[in-house]
Amino acid sequence: MSRQILVTSALPYANGSIHLGHLVEYIQTDVWVRFQKMRGHDCRYMCADDTHGTAIMLRAEKEGITPETLIGRVWDEHTRDFAGFHIGFDHYYSTHSDENRALASKIYLALKDAGLIEVKTIAQMYDPVKNLFLPDRFIKGECPKCGAADQYGDNCEVCGATYSPTELKNPVSAVSGATPVHKDSEHYFFRLGDCEAFLREWTKSGSLQDEAANKMQEWFASGLSNWDISRDAPYFGFEIPGAPGKYFYVWLDAPVGYMASFAKYAADNGLDFDAWWGKDSRTELVHFIGKDILYFHALFWPAMLKFSGHRLPTAVYAHGFLTVNGQKMSKSRGTFITAASYLEQGLNPEWLRYYYAAKLNGSMEDIDLNLDDFVARVNSDLVGKFINIASRTAGFIHKKFDGKLADGVANIELVGEFQAAAESIAAHYEARDYAKALREIMALADRANQYVADEKPWELAKQDAAVYRLHEVCTVALNLFRLLTLYLKPVLPKLAEQVEAFLAIEPLGWDDAQSLFIRHRINEYSHLMTRIDPKAIEAMVDANKQNLEPTPAPAPVRHAEAQAHAAQPAAAPVAETISIDDFAKIDLRIARIASAEHVEGADKLLRLTLDLGELGTRQVFAGIKSAYAPEALVGRLTVMVANLAPRKMKFGMSEGMVLAASGDAPGLFILSPDSGAQPGMKVK
Ligand code: 2FM
Ligand code: ZN
Repeated sequence: MSRQILVTSALPYANGSIHLGHLVEYIQTDVWVRFQKMRGHDCRYMCADDTHGTAIMLRAEKEGITPETLIGRVWDEHTRDFAGFHIGFDHYYSTHSDENRALASKIYLALKDAGLIEVKTIAQMYDPVKNLFLPDRFIKGECPKCGAADQYGDNCEVCGATYSPTELKNPVSAVSGATPVHKDSEHYFFRLGDCEAFLREWTKSGSLQDEAANKMQEWFASGLSNWDISRDAPYFGFEIPGAPGKYFYVWLDAPVGYMASFAKYAADNGLDFDAWWGKDSRTELVHFIGKDILYFHALFWPAMLKFSGHRLPTAVYAHGFLTVNGQKMSKSRGTFITAASYLEQGLNPEWLRYYYAAKLNGSMEDIDLNLDDFVARVNSDLVGKFINIASRTAGFIHKKFDGKLADGVANIELVGEFQAAAESIAAHYEARDYAKALREIMALADRANQYVADEKPWELAKQDAAVYRLHEVCTVALNLFRLLTLYLKPVLPKLAEQVEAFLAIEPLGWDDAQSLFIRHRINEYSHLMTRIDPKAIEAMVDANKQNLEPTPAPAPVRHAEAQAHAAQPAAAPVAETISIDDFAKIDLRIARIASAEHVEGADKLLRLTLDLGELGTRQVFAGIKSAYAPEALVGRLTVMVANLAPRKMKFGMSEGMVLAASGDAPGLFILSPDSGAQPGMKVK
């Protein structure tokens, strides 16, 4: 029976470009939606830009435009980028819409009627120059725990402490530079704690992955706090009904944006909104999200839906983060790659769709885009295995048989095996285990290639007596190719379209797997997909490299030797000999650079967090900024002096030194141990 499924991806913020990290989710969702549609289900894919909040308001102000103009421009960019990757939304809207305002207000009022809204006065940091309450990310100061300078208002990147912005020492507003003051204001809270019994029950409904359900148990154990859903003017968003000057916090109306996108779509397409969102709706509601926003989708959102009289999500599917070449995406390494720059290099979007799909298994694990592996895998699987089947056989159908396939298939068993795989491949897609689906499809592609290699149509073509056999072999091969195309179609929709045009067939649906492809006239084969040229990848990485660091040559140093670099590249030459006992006093250790960041106001320093294994972590300020972008250091092993007395510096405590070499020639080189060394090991 045909299912009705409403699918969403998280709504991207309207203050930044779509990048390859975002695309994991949109590609994951799009593959699933296309698969459902191929199965004949009534599946609608909704999304929108997430447009509200202080960040967007301030950015528009900085650009000298209205927030409406900004979000209009970003909407154009986002929809263009998504279309470039063949993300087939049925509707892409904006949270700044009349429908969203109406629905967010209605839900809020229903929650209020249910006694779930309370008003409390709280003190918050206020910028007295901009007359603005400051979100945590717009306040900087010294960490209340470790004293590190230049930390955001919610957590310290040096010691990892989390705190409230009112605890920061010497806070400044990142907007105006003014010292924020504490100011009282009334806030509206959603009483999430009152929804706990319902949420505990809902957690058992099977809507969450096991990993997510476990996370929920942790949240229950640590207690559900009530949720602050209001922000004071000035704020770009919707004013709360009955509360002049108070606005819905962006995260209140963002998920309602799923509904609003559908409301507009339903109105335009004659669908009954309540049949999809009403309490008794029989449709499926499936949200694809990143694991970082699980809290919003597994706690707030179901509670909001439940207590405002709506249906609940059928499933919330969270995925992991993207790493590139095993590391966080980095602007200095050129791996913070925007969707637009990928396309501008002339790279085929379906290469990325294939690669991501080959890595996605439906879990919350992170996935890695290894650029070398990307090139190798796409070239080998798609061009070497899949396209190869058609390119080695289709030409003969035209040359020898006037473009017409044979009346039957010679190797019916092999074709039958391909057909029989339809349900198991479908089960993998359904379970979002695309990796498994593609493994199964590529194993079939191997068999098809083996068949062609065994039958050698190019040799049959040379023998007049084998012409009938040649016709059969090419017909079998093209049957196999058609079935592989069908199975790959959710991942490679454009390529499938090209194949459909070449084979002169109607768009393939899943049921077509059961029919044979014979007595049919096909079009002439023309090349379907090229290989990835690794140079294009290099060019893309170069195009995305942002030189974050001016890298002037380091100050000349008199002697070439290993030096300890702390606040400044120390230039003291080794002068006198020392005894072995003197040397033994220096506790040199292997350290892993756990984090590295710029220090605002310091020209030469990077703030490093060094992991010494069982000995704990140390914060060190090192004068190596001229030679290293912070991102390039993270994860590296180096050598440090671990027993140097801590020194209080302008920017915080420095608890050791890292060793680096420099000499007369330009350059500064931190020391690294051979592989195998572990953090905390003593260097002797
Ligand atoms: O994390 C984000 O990028 C948010 N803009 C996602 C919102 S998803 C939904 F709730 F709207
Ligand atoms: Zn700290």
